[in-house]
Amino acid sequence: MRWTVFLGIQCLILFIVIGIFYLHQGHVILLKKPPESIAQWYKPQNKRQVWLHTMFRLRREMLAMEIYAKTGDGEKLQKWAEKLNEDYLEIARMVPEWKKRLDLTVLTDIQNSIEEKRYQNVTQALLELDKSCQSCHRDFRAVSATIYRVPDFSDIKIDSATSLVSHMRTLSKQLNRIKIAFVDDRQDAALTALSDLEKGMNSLGYICDNCHKKASQIYPNEPMTRALDKLEQNLKTGTVEDQGKALGTLAVMVCAECHGTHRLAYDAKKLLGKKMNWAELLEHAF
Ligand code: HEC
Ligand code: HEC
Ligand code: HEC
Repeated sequence: MRWTVFLGIQCLILFIVIGIFYLHQGHVILLKKPPESIAQWYKPQNKRQVWLHTMFRLRREMLAMEIYAKTGDGEKLQKWAEKLNEDYLEIARMVPEWKKRLDLTVLTDIQNSIEEKRYQNVTQALLELDKSCQSCHRDFRAVSATIYRVPDFSDIKIDSATSLVSHMRTLSKQLNRIKIAFVDDRQDAALTALSDLEKGMNSLGYICDNCHKKASQIYPNEPMTRALDKLEQNLKTGTVEDQGKALGTLAVMVCAECHGTHRLAYDAKKLLGKKMNWAELLEHAF
């Protein structure tokens, strides 16, 4: 191949790559994904939340060392330094891909400072070590927590014929049917829709036991039942304004509060779990 042709092809490829980057600028979010080896340190692959508990220990060990470096208690400092050493190195044993994120020189520095009773230096070195904690957390903390710890609703069904999503759509229609009926002065239709909503909520309530201990999340709970009663009263005797208020209060209580916890988090989990899809990127539908 003539070298000019070769160079020409190289330039063309470079232009295409730059072009693709340029076209997607501001349209896509790039996130770093934690290595999959971390999954074995989370439930359900592991019986315990091993990763998280190692992290909690690290934070405690840093604090203990900070305290004893200030008071100059060399013996206790040494004891906690050994624990810190072990747990910090444990990060790379658990997730080998993250070995390069560890700052091993600081560990040596801490050990030398303790031996030479330079406690001020220990405090400094701990700040330095904290930078390696922060750096990994900036890249991976939120993503890992979302992928591995957010409650998963993908296998949850209301009954053998009804998926969670389709039940949600039904609940949403029931709420809106109430509103449409009362603004159009159709009291009977509003009351029928309310009674349907109540039944729909009761069936939803059974799924909570899948994960929550019985009685820790009763759905509908007492305040919800009172809000349902209040709406019923208003549908019978209240003004349209009162009816609107009672419906709004009910919806926040029985839908929005759970969405704030579960839907938001589960949506994020689904987004982060999505496989990389070139076809979708090239489709360029932003
Ligand atoms: C190589 C990556 C990495 C390093 C280094 C690292 N962590 Fe973490 N840490 C994580 C990840 C990932 C999470 C998210 C875990 C979760 O929430 O499920 C986390 C979460 C935590 C948490 C719990 C979340 C919180 O903020 O309440 C603490 C505490 C913590 N780390 C302390 C430390 C300390 C202290 C160090 C340094 C001595 C450290 N970590 C170093 C990856 C790392
Ligand atoms: C797939 C498991 C799962 C199901 C099903 C589930 N939850 Fe949860 N829920 C959790 C976990 C785990 C937490 C703890 C917080 C977290 O990690 O998000 C939680 C937290 C909550 C919270 C916030 C904290 C609290 O306890 O007040 C509310 C409210 C809640 N759930 C309501 C419900 C209701 C209502 C249902 C049933 C309609 C339900 N959940 C079904 C797993 C689940
Ligand atoms: C467990 C607590 C919980 C409660 C209580 C709850 N939802 Fe949901 N809702 C969810 C979750 C989780 C999703 C996401 C489901 C999915 O995407 O698979 C969702 C999704 C939805 C959706 C979107 C469905 C779609 O087409 O993707 C609608 C609409 C909805 N909910 C309406 C309601 C209404 C109305 C209420 C109150 C009457 C309600 N939800 C109560 C958890 C809850």
